[in-house]
Amino acid sequence: MPNIVIVGAQWGDEGKGKVVDVITPHFDVIVRYQGGNNAGHTVVVGREKFVLQTIPSGILHPGRRNIIGCGVVVNPASLIDEMESLVRRGVSLDGNLYISKNAHVVMPYHPALDRASESKAGKHRIGTTGKGVGPAYADKTARVGIRMADLLDERLFREKLEYNVRQKNRLLREIYDAESFTVEGILGPYLRYAGWLAPYITDTALLLHNWMEAGSSVLFEGAQGTMLDIDHGTYPFITSSSTTAGGACTGSGVPPTKIDGVVGISKAYCTRVGGGPFPTELGGEIADLLRTRGNEFGSVTGRPRRCGWVDAIGLRYAARINGLDTLAITKLDVLDACDTVKICVGYNYNDEVLTDFPEEERIWHEAEPVYEEISGWKTSTAGLRDYEDLPTKAREYLARLSELCGVGISLVSTGPVRDETILVNDSTLARWIPGLRSSLPPH
Ligand code: IMP
Repeated sequence: MPNIVIVGAQWGDEGKGKVVDVITPHFDVIVRYQGGNNAGHTVVVGREKFVLQTIPSGILHPGRRNIIGCGVVVNPASLIDEMESLVRRGVSLDGNLYISKNAHVVMPYHPALDRASESKAGKHRIGTTGKGVGPAYADKTARVGIRMADLLDERLFREKLEYNVRQKNRLLREIYDAESFTVEGILGPYLRYAGWLAPYITDTALLLHNWMEAGSSVLFEGAQGTMLDIDHGTYPFITSSSTTAGGACTGSGVPPTKIDGVVGISKAYCTRVGGGPFPTELGGEIADLLRTRGNEFGSVTGRPRRCGWVDAIGLRYAARINGLDTLAITKLDVLDACDTVKICVGYNYNDEVLTDFPEEERIWHEAEPVYEEISGWKTSTAGLRDYEDLPTKAREYLARLSELCGVGISLVSTGPVRDETILVNDSTLARWIPGLRSSLPPH
């Protein structure tokens, strides 16, 4: 079985959790490699809905091993809450969850700095989730961060904490006019969290190496999406981690030579939450229709998501940056009610039509999308499981999207639950995972 990376091909919220959940039974190990509790991966199992924030979605499958890699930033209180809530709902965490010693810790001053800097940013506000993820990664890069292993060494932890509290308090008080922190106020609770999490904290890169040597197959579960990547996204309106496929290696310690393929996940339309450019954003009735039918409200923050047409320029860029081998298209059924559906095939800027995703911030903000239109299919695709059962117009839409992105489509999701999934015959995923069709609920 190949080792596969799953990445968001848009601005996050593409439905990665569901796709990971559908293919997880075929993998031995599932790895989260970046982001933190800013993510919310929604998985519907039967009638139950789970929103996973830091724990890989593979946790819902007994017998899978789940890793929180070194590229993740861990808020211990939030992780413990998530673990306890899973256990209350009957999910076992016995010997199936491992946290990297090198993962950085989100400290109480990180959300405080996140909120303080956002409140003073005016029109430069990013619209973060307020979870402190950006400041935690900033400390990591500035080499003053605290890692999970540090929590287990009380003397070292205190030393690092004292330095950080001094530094952050000056920032909070003098620049942001905000509340400050005390070392003792943080030390006590964090040492308790450390005691609680200690059995799970380990050298996950070594574990992964050993398991892969022994033949285990690994699924890398990306969080957020390509357009939010620290290097390749719509900077500065991005998150602070490597959301693209390369992040799977740096965020786990698995070398690129061990990765066999990359699957991109995209909605049949597009959403973005928070500020920043979004060339195909819609207002008015169609945006409302997509938001309502797609239930486009943040799973972590509850914020309404901005909605728009699918952007083939952005998707082709995602295909290039991630080396996508195949695509999974989610929420096709949300478009069932549209009279026409549109695909962005170019950006009109200064009377020139750009067909490659530009790098300039000004163009993202000012370009006018150029659309191709396909008349809507106006019949329900909800719950369909066979590609041949899709209305002709829906198939035409998917085929054109695939042609424009230069990547084939393996999966189409037609609803939130596992069995509302179409596996395309002879597609890349069907070839990679021979047992996938038989593991989907029968037709
Ligand atoms: P941060 O990651 O909280 O710093 O937020 C930075 C940007 O990334 C904001 O626009 C957020 O809305 C966005 N963002 C962060 N996590 C997610 C996610 O899981 N889905 C969609 N957008 C996200």
